[in-house]
Amino acid sequence: MVSFTDFFLTSLLAAAGLGSALPPQISTTKDQNGRLTLKQVRNPRPHKAFNPARATYRTFLKYGVPAPDYIKKAITHIDDEQEEAFSRSKRDTGSAAAIPINEVDIAYVTPVTVGTPPQTLMLDLDTGSSDLWVFSSLTPSSQVRGQDIYTPANSSTSKLLNGHTWSIRYGDGSGSRGTVYLDTLAVGGLEVKSQAVQTAQEVSSSFTQEQSLDGLMGLGFSTLNTVRPSSQLTFFDNARPSLDEEVFTADLKYHATGSYDFGFVDRAKYTGNISYTAVTESPGYWTHSLSGYAVGSGAFQTTRLSGISDTGTTLLYLPTAVVTAYYRQVQGAQNSQYYGGYVFPCSSSLPTFTFGIEEARFTIPASYINYTRISPTSTTCYGGLQSSSGLGINIFGDVALKAAFVVFSGTNPPRIGFAHKPLDS
Ligand SMILES: *[C@@H]1O[C@H](CO)[C@@H](O)[C@H](O)[C@H]1NC(C)=O
Ligand SMILES: *[C@@H]1O[C@H](CO)[C@@H](O)[C@H](O)[C@H]1NC(C)=O
Ligand SMILES: *[C@@H]1O[C@H](CO)[C@@H](O)[C@H](O)[C@H]1NC(C)=O
Repeated sequence: MVSFTDFFLTSLLAAAGLGSALPPQISTTKDQNGRLTLKQVRNPRPHKAFNPARATYRTFLKYGVPAPDYIKKAITHIDDEQEEAFSRSKRDTGSAAAIPINEVDIAYVTPVTVGTPPQTLMLDLDTGSSDLWVFSSLTPSSQVRGQDIYTPANSSTSKLLNGHTWSIRYGDGSGSRGTVYLDTLAVGGLEVKSQAVQTAQEVSSSFTQEQSLDGLMGLGFSTLNTVRPSSQLTFFDNARPSLDEEVFTADLKYHATGSYDFGFVDRAKYTGNISYTAVTESPGYWTHSLSGYAVGSGAFQTTRLSGISDTGTTLLYLPTAVVTAYYRQVQGAQNSQYYGGYVFPCSSSLPTFTFGIEEARFTIPASYINYTRISPTSTTCYGGLQSSSGLGINIFGDVALKAAFVVFSGTNPPRIGFAHKPLDS
C-alpha cells in the first residue's frame, strides 16, 4: 500500500507576468524523509503587476461562459494603468527591478514527474476540471513561452493512446486540444503507472501567457474528462485503489507555499475536528453547500449556498446579495464596470468574511479579500470576493480554500471536509 505522499507546492505563481517569488527556474530536492521539497528561485525578470480583472476573465472562460464586454475592457484599463506605472517607475529609478512586486496567489503549482527518466513539470492541481494536460513537444513553439514541456519520445515508458484526442473549449471560443499518451506519473512519491497524459497540440493564449504553469492536473470527477472516444481516469481515480484512504487534502496558504497530500489526512495540518458536508458530483465538480455566512462580527445568516470547491479558481464568487452585504461595510467600495468587479480604496478597512460548513464556521481574514492593488502605484484595490451572477455558479476558489484545511474524500458517496488551521495574514 502506498501510505502517503507529501510535497510542498509553490506559492503563487506567476501567471501572466505576475511578479511572484517564483520560477522560471524551480528545482526540486528530496529531504531526508524522501519527501519532495521545492526550492524557489526568484524570478530575475522584471514583471508588470498581475492584472486582477484577468482572474475573473479566466474564470468565465473556464466555466464556458462568454465574458461580458465590460470585463474585457477592464483588462485593458488595468493594463494601461500598469503600463503607465511601469514606465513612470522606470523614469524614477532607471531600473525595472525597482517596481514593487505584487505577490498574489493567482494559482498554485506543484512539481509532477512524467515518464522515464522523469521529466518534471509544474502543474496546477485543479479540483475544477478533470483533464491532465501538459505543454509538450507537440505544442507549436509559437505557443510556448518559457514553459517546460513533456517530450514523450524521451520517455521509455510512454505509449501513444491510439486514436484518442481531447479538446477543451473555453467561453471565448478559444481552446486547448491534442493527443494522449499513457505514461508513468508521480506526485510527491505517489506513482501511477499508466496515467493518461494529454499532450497539447494547441493551447489557448491565456495559458501561453502563464509562463510558470506547464499544464493542469484535474482533480474533479472523471466524468468531466474530455478524452474521446473513451474518457480517461484522473490521477486520483487511478491512484485510489492503492491509497490507504480514498482522500486527498489541500492546505493552500496565503502568499506562501502550501501542500497537497494523497491517501492520508495529516493531523499536524489542522486543529479541532473536520466538519464534513455532502458532495454531489454533478456534473463532475466537487459541488456542496455552505450553511450560511457572516460579514465581520455581524450575525450569521443561515442560508444554503450551493457551489463548487475549486482549487484552480483564484477568487471567491458568491451571489450578488452576499457580495453587496459585504462591500456595504467597506467605505468607498463600488462594483466597478471600469475595473470589472468590486474595488475599494486601499486605505479603507475591510471586515472578515465567515462561511459555514454545517455547524462549523470558517473566517477568511480581511487581508485575503484585499486581493491586490489595481497597479503598484494605484490607491484602488481589487476584491477577492466577487459576484457569481454572470457565471451562473458559486465558486469557492482559493481565497476561501486558503482559510481552511480541506479534505476531498472520494468515498461513496463523496464528501468534503473543512478544518481549522493557523492562518497567516
Ligand atoms: C530529449 O533527450 C535528449 C537527450 O537527453 C535531450 O538532448 C533533449 O533536449 C530532450 N528533448 C527535450 C525536448 O526535452
Ligand atoms: C470533536 O468531536 C468530538 C467527538 O464528536 C467531540 O467530543 C469534541 O468536543 C469535538 N472537538 C471540537 C474541538 O469540536
Ligand atoms: C491592501 O493591500 C495593499 C497591498 O496590496 C496594502 O497596501 C493596503 O494597505 C491594503 N488595504 C487594506 C484595507 O488592507
